[in-house]
Amino acid sequence: MSNPEASVSLDPAAIPQRKLFTGATMPAIGLGTFGSDHVSASEIAEAVKGAAAVGYRHFDCASVYANEAAIGASFDQILRTGIKREDLWITSKLWNDKHGEDQVIASCRQSLADLRLSYLDLYLVHWPFPNFHPPGCDVSSRSPDARPYIHENFMRTWRKMEELVDLGLVRHIGTSNMTIPKLRLVLRDARIKPAVNEMELHPHFQQPELFRFVLDNGIQPVGYCPIGSPGRPERDRTPTDTAPTDDPVIVRIAMRHRIHPAAVCIKWAVQRGQTPIPFSTHHYRENLEGVLLEPLTDDEMSAIAAIDRNCRLIKGQVFLWKDGQTWEDLWDPNGEITSP
Ligand SMILES: NC(=O)c1ccc[n+]([C@@H]2O[C@H](COP(=O)([O-])OP(=O)(O)OC[C@H]3O[C@@H](n4cnc5c(N)ncnc54)[C@H](OP(=O)(O)O)[C@@H]3O)[C@@H](O)[C@H]2O)c1
Repeated sequence: MSNPEASVSLDPAAIPQRKLFTGATMPAIGLGTFGSDHVSASEIAEAVKGAAAVGYRHFDCASVYANEAAIGASFDQILRTGIKREDLWITSKLWNDKHGEDQVIASCRQSLADLRLSYLDLYLVHWPFPNFHPPGCDVSSRSPDARPYIHENFMRTWRKMEELVDLGLVRHIGTSNMTIPKLRLVLRDARIKPAVNEMELHPHFQQPELFRFVLDNGIQPVGYCPIGSPGRPERDRTPTDTAPTDDPVIVRIAMRHRIHPAAVCIKWAVQRGQTPIPFSTHHYRENLEGVLLEPLTDDEMSAIAAIDRNCRLIKGQVFLWKDGQTWEDLWDPNGEITSP
């Protein structure tokens, strides 16, 4: 831990909470745990411990991040410090090569074993596309078994997600990287609806329509890459990408509040009504502190609302399923599910 103040706790009871349709509450800021291929599992496991010590209670994990076993050892230690399991909110995710009906429950059980937990607060289908691609592969890589979104198949996976709730292994289930037309179908056919949709959200990618849609349907938006993912792998970068932390509006507000532009992005996210899950091994304390101290003014919130650039950073190219497609096809830009 590089921050000498890291062990001085902020008040977890002061963290704003989101109410889910079940009545459960989820802390409105969590710690991301994807090391973007360059931060090791042990560094992230240390950050999880440090973050819990300063007051974080929400952790966003996934089997594909290949660090759940290390993070599980941290949870074990955290629970020995007197923090109760019911005070933590722990999310994990089903990876794309485990959508098969016989794989969902086994995959969740593996995450539970790795994380050393008896239940998850939230289990997400990480992407709506069943697809195997080797970890760390280039964006031009295409999987021979890549498939488009096929709703009947997704619902077969979703039935197993629902069974996880029935079994008491997870408290809530949710989606990630979805679009409005896909979510409409899931809402129509689900027995247990998604409690959360995890989606890219930062000042340069505000997704106003999807944001409104999920809230209107009683689904909480969890925002990934809330800072604009400055550490994301090279393969996820394109020349047209912009950085919200460089935006003059964000920089000006940061100077006014004497905080880092990253902390402004986190404050904005919480005040707007989403739940950011910033990854951090060095700045997690200041990100939480930013949420608890001096809010942004209405004028500052409006100024940030006006800098949306519709700049998606995580485009998902590796999920394309046929030649001649562009990544936009994955995101149903015309309001209809892109046909197979
Ligand atoms: N569902 C999905 O498909 C999906 C996709 C992508 C990400 N996610 C989740 O979302 C999480 C967050 O996304 P992300 O990791 O891509 O990006 P991010 O949270 O936007 O950015 C993380 C980067 O910002 C730096 N940072 C954090 N706070 C800072 C501060 N106050 N000042 C300066 N730098 C700061 C971190 O560096 P330090 O480590 O040095 O602090 C790290 O390099 C992931 O970890 C993962 O849990 C989910």
